[in-house]
Amino acid sequence: MLIHHIAQLVTVNGGPQRGSRLGQLSIIPHAAVVHREGKIVAVGPEEEIMAAFPDEPRFDAGGRAVVPGLVDPHTHILWAGERAAEFEMRLAGKTYLEILAAGGGILNTVQATRRASVEQLMAETRPRLWRAFAHGTTTIEVKTGYGLSTAAEFKTLEAILRLDEEGPWDLVPTFLAAHAVPPEFRGQPGAYTHLICNQMLPALKSWWREHARGRPLPFVDVFCETGAFDLEQTRCILETAKALGFPLKVHADEFDNLGGAALAAHLGAASADHLVVTSSEDIRALAASETVAVSLPCTPFGLGEPHYTPAKAIIEADGYLAVATDCNPGTAWCESMPFAMALACRAMGLTPAQALAAATINAAAALMRADTIGALEPGKQADLLILETSDYRHLAYRFGTNPVAWVVKRGRFYRVEGGVKCTPR
Ligand code: NIG
Ligand code: FE
Repeated sequence: MLIHHIAQLVTVNGGPQRGSRLGQLSIIPHAAVVHREGKIVAVGPEEEIMAAFPDEPRFDAGGRAVVPGLVDPHTHILWAGERAAEFEMRLAGKTYLEILAAGGGILNTVQATRRASVEQLMAETRPRLWRAFAHGTTTIEVKTGYGLSTAAEFKTLEAILRLDEEGPWDLVPTFLAAHAVPPEFRGQPGAYTHLICNQMLPALKSWWREHARGRPLPFVDVFCETGAFDLEQTRCILETAKALGFPLKVHADEFDNLGGAALAAHLGAASADHLVVTSSEDIRALAASETVAVSLPCTPFGLGEPHYTPAKAIIEADGYLAVATDCNPGTAWCESMPFAMALACRAMGLTPAQALAAATINAAAALMRADTIGALEPGKQADLLILETSDYRHLAYRFGTNPVAWVVKRGRFYRVEGGVKCTPR
């Protein structure tokens, strides 16, 4: 298939973008792209491509902009229930960590998720995945972390694997048993850490071999935070996971600076995420490593808090910066990557070009998939978006409505019905 009549083809080629390179989009005006069997075959000026592929079936993009499919590298999108009441409690002055310490927050969702069957979890999550997909997310990371027992964590992993097989999307699983200390271990984070290291992680390895049909091992992540896991517990979990061969991620510095970001860099984690109260020393450690800094601007926005990831300092220090939604029922129920990008521009000072690179190639790097997704280059997956507009900047310029007209996933076309349909009566 040859897609032509593209006003701007934003390729984001040349690999992940560190420091001041962030935002180099390589835009081809009046362009066309050819894909076959789910992969990009050629990109270039329309005239050249049309001449080189005269017999290829054609699709007219209508003078719109085309960008790579968005990659959301941090979500907790699989859960049961909801927490609107806690939203209201926070508006009345309770903090997120106070609600968690009182047995609510993550633990509230854990209760609902433990009760739910695999089918029910899938049924509640499926519409959220479709909304993310309709907003242009073609690959999405999904964490466990609402089970917090071996059986319940494996149940949620099973739901993730089944939803991945079912959908047009690619789901990238992350094992986050270290999301909170479960009620059975209340006040004993050390004992729960011991369970994760000595039982859950080795069991995960065999479970994966039996159930995941040759897929690469999932990431292992830890919520390194006051009231969750301290730096030593985080180290113990991540070192054990690394020794077992799992790739790593860390939730660091969302509320308190415990040193999780520097630990992530030291252990060669794929990413360190949140990074709101990160010290300049930790930023330097990250920037000196290959670990991607994943900013989650929907989270402070969702919590109504004024502090965001110091994106400019990370860029100045020469680090890799990515953007994600953090979609979850507590702090940020947002399936829209364009909204996260719009926020990244306003609250973190990114340009639209930087926000797009952070949401594509650098987000792919945070998932260790920059060789196959995140850019429109020959050989990569044919995951791309045809926008409603001819200028890619509308992705971040607008907010609150969906700027995506078509999602193309592995070469298959999905028309987004973004507007309201009014049936006269
Ligand atoms: O990334 N910080 C920890 N986890 C999520 C929140 C999960 C929840 O509240 O359910 C986050 O913000
Ligand atoms: Fe998170």
